[in-house]
Amino acid sequence: MLCLGIESSCDETGLALVRDGKFIAEKLASQVDVHALFGGVVPEIASREHLRALPALFNELMSEQSLTADDLDVIAVARGPGLQGCLLMGLNFAKGLALSTGADLIGVNHLWAHLTAAGLEQELQFPSLGLLVSGGHTHIYLIKSTSEFVLLGRTLDDAAGEAFDKTAKLLNIPYPGGKIVDELGKLGTVDPKMFPTPYIKNDNLDFSFSGLKTAVSLYVQANTELRLPMMGIPDSETDDPEIVRRRNNMFASFNYTVANKLRVKVDRALQRNKGVKSLIVAGGVAANSVVRSVMSDVADKFSIPLVLPSLKFCTDNGAMIAYSGYLLAQDGYRHDFKLEAIPRGRVVPEDWTRISEK
Ligand code: KG4
Ligand code: ZN
Repeated sequence: MLCLGIESSCDETGLALVRDGKFIAEKLASQVDVHALFGGVVPEIASREHLRALPALFNELMSEQSLTADDLDVIAVARGPGLQGCLLMGLNFAKGLALSTGADLIGVNHLWAHLTAAGLEQELQFPSLGLLVSGGHTHIYLIKSTSEFVLLGRTLDDAAGEAFDKTAKLLNIPYPGGKIVDELGKLGTVDPKMFPTPYIKNDNLDFSFSGLKTAVSLYVQANTELRLPMMGIPDSETDDPEIVRRRNNMFASFNYTVANKLRVKVDRALQRNKGVKSLIVAGGVAANSVVRSVMSDVADKFSIPLVLPSLKFCTDNGAMIAYSGYLLAQDGYRHDFKLEAIPRGRVVPEDWTRISEK
């Protein structure tokens, strides 16, 4: 089964091919530079960029593999949650291809796709606990099978990735600053008391990052010299070494606080779901070195393996959509041409048709 995956839910246009669950090739066009100037993704610009990139990436991907559209069995597309206009670009491209080739169409939940992405590289076991930490979501799921995800907890306000990006922005570091906060934090020393870890003294599995965001904002207001004079990447060669040291310490402490916050809730979820066979951590923030190391400790504590996608499959990409589409298609699920885009904030419906039994 040759499955094409199409990702266009935010600011990355990704296309990839998966054959019988095995990764073949991918194309990715990032719009990060286009949006960096604005401090975040501008939805209208993002939609136009997807429209521009999709046909070119598709042609490159297929011709490099000496394949044509008629070779495709399944066309999988991220149908939400995401930016409505962006999703529609991918969806319409997918529908056009399915209509012209007769290939099957399957709409994929972008969040599920993040969580099963590691299956491209290793066998997944179920049930598993899944932590999804991305720019738009921070969710804990009990994953019973490749098509049964039970939401156990979620962020009540900002997502973990948003907290990283806003922290970077406060210091005049361009969007998306999470990776830079991670990299520079490795050079600093953690002060566990620099930032509070709000919303952990309760009995639930939900997250809140707004208190941390306020704490960081107050810290930067009290230490304005840590801000870069102009939007850019900190340069340890030219910046004042004392400021570089203090800024790196702030990033180290921030990484620690976010990872610790995630640890408390994941630990609690594992205590309540004793039978799970692994801990899966996915999404852009799963690329964070401190989050990876803290989650490894949590998994060790419960004697289960930690499953992490490799770095290139953590952030948005077409391969995870192709793989998730393959899993659903293999179980007999399909969509018809009424398939809708689901914007952020709405629950992605499980409105597939089952064409065959497993
Ligand atoms: O999953 P993703 O690519 O897109 C969404 O679906 O949102 O996640 C993007 C988020 C951004 O907020 C970005 O700053 C963050 O992931 N991110 C990181 C790291 N790499 C990407 N955050 C912390 N540390 C990193 N190494
Ligand atoms: Zn994502």
